[in-house]
Amino acid sequence: MIDRLEKLRSEGREQIESAASEKELEDVRVAFLGRKSELNLVARGLGKLPPDERRLVGKAVNRIKEELTTLLGEARERLGGKTGGPGLDLTLPGRVPWVGRKHPLTRTLERLEGIFKGLGFEVALGPHVEDDFHNFEALNFPKDHPARDAHDTFYVEGGGLLRTHTSPVQIRVMQTRKPPIRIIAPGRVFRNETPDASHGSEFFQLEGLYVDKDVRFGELKGVLIKFLRELYGDDVGVRLRPGFFPFTEPSAEVDVECRICRGKGCSVCKQTGWVELLGAGMVDPRVFRAVGYDPDEVSGYAFGLGVDRICMMMTGVDDIRLFLQNDLRFLRQL
Ligand code: PHE
Repeated sequence: MIDRLEKLRSEGREQIESAASEKELEDVRVAFLGRKSELNLVARGLGKLPPDERRLVGKAVNRIKEELTTLLGEARERLGGKTGGPGLDLTLPGRVPWVGRKHPLTRTLERLEGIFKGLGFEVALGPHVEDDFHNFEALNFPKDHPARDAHDTFYVEGGGLLRTHTSPVQIRVMQTRKPPIRIIAPGRVFRNETPDASHGSEFFQLEGLYVDKDVRFGELKGVLIKFLRELYGDDVGVRLRPGFFPFTEPSAEVDVECRICRGKGCSVCKQTGWVELLGAGMVDPRVFRAVGYDPDEVSGYAFGLGVDRICMMMTGVDDIRLFLQNDLRFLRQL
């Protein structure tokens, strides 16, 4: 009897070791440990054996059962099905690890910064929570001036406000430095607008400011066209329209041909074929006076551009709100 059991043990071991799949392993388990297995039959017949032999055989049966069970467990792990699910399937596609990358808005900002740095501009930053002086007053928005209405300002308890544009950085830079100044100020701005496909209550602008002696409008136009050609290629359609901003005179609004529909008309360009990307103009003498510069000595230009719109055209995404929802299913596609 003991010899027979020894043979079962070594056969069991062998078959477990050579099993090539979870399925085969399960067959081995049924054959050696299952209800109808020889081991089990011996165990059930123990009662009929004389007491001495019963103890001996009983011990052997238990030892073999334990050993085979342990080996089965190890083999199962080896075959990959730790939790008893399907084993290793070599036909499944590999698991590609998730790789983090920069947000499309960050990538857009870096691209824009790169172009302007190449044109000699350096980066300046300012606070998100501003005061009335820097966001409005010094930029020649008098109190009660209707231009303030267009800004839908978020006010902060204690008297501050969330900056409605990056233009206050112009003021901060001019207050602390002397010309020549050639800076860009990228950053987040806030307006209490009802969000829709092309407006968010939070968005990004990039401000530019150049102040020196004898700066002319032609230089502004030249820099902007150079910038837009770097961004979109030499064949990009650019259009300057007269505009109004309290802090520039004269002012212009700059459009580019819509990159999504190539001028045919779509929801991003509101069917016009053109997208307004920039506000720009020559720094108003009143702004120079507000920061203690002499407008007879210096002149300059400023511009502000909508980063989100550029990002939309770069990615082909036609709803600005998607960029700030941070849904990975969306972001991972870009
Ligand atoms: N700050 C203006 C806006 O938010 C844009 C602008 C900047 C216009 C600089 C002219 C010069 O609409």
